[in-house]
Amino acid sequence: MNHPFIQPPQVEWASGALTKGPLLRKSTRIRDLIGIFADDPARQRLAGEHVVYDVEILATSPAEGELYTGVTHLYPGRVGDEYFMTRGHFHARREQGEVYFGLRGNGLLLLQNEQGQARLESVCAGSIHIIPGFTAHRLINTGSEVLSALAVWPGVAGHDYAALAKGFTLRVFEENQQIQVREAQNE
Ligand code: F6R
Ligand code: ZN
Repeated sequence: MNHPFIQPPQVEWASGALTKGPLLRKSTRIRDLIGIFADDPARQRLAGEHVVYDVEILATSPAEGELYTGVTHLYPGRVGDEYFMTRGHFHARREQGEVYFGLRGNGLLLLQNEQGQARLESVCAGSIHIIPGFTAHRLINTGSEVLSALAVWPGVAGHDYAALAKGFTLRVFEENQQIQVREAQNE
């Protein structure tokens, strides 16, 4: 009997590039991130076309029990003094967790529970981040290189962005070339 070897999709660890799979791609630009950064006038002064992050996802089944795999490439930059970051979300199915793996660059993963308690984990090549259920998550690029992270999450998890309409309770800025974490003002 002939048993052909299936060639699975691959991730190039150094760059986070996904290959050999049917891929879905999405770019998020400055113009898409209304109300996300503390200084919205500063955001409006930047070119709306500028890409803040790209996400590539292996197109697999969203059925109950199946897993999605994707890579986020978050580019370096700031809006005013605030570092570029992803929009951030809870999963629509709140109990569903996720795992992030840092691939390159330096940054932070902001995690926040439903009571608004937040914590920050350092993201770097090789870091592993276990995001439990009921926990909102956002990547922040505090470095000068691209921050890339691989993620695996349940296909049924979904995204709930609206639940974070009041934002995360922490924000991360650069001040005198240092990373500064501040409690968000009541926004
Ligand atoms: C999936 C997940 C990531 C993010 C991506 C973009 O559950 O957490 O793939 O979707 O990092 O971030 P958002 O979705 O917050 O714009
Ligand atoms: Zn998620």
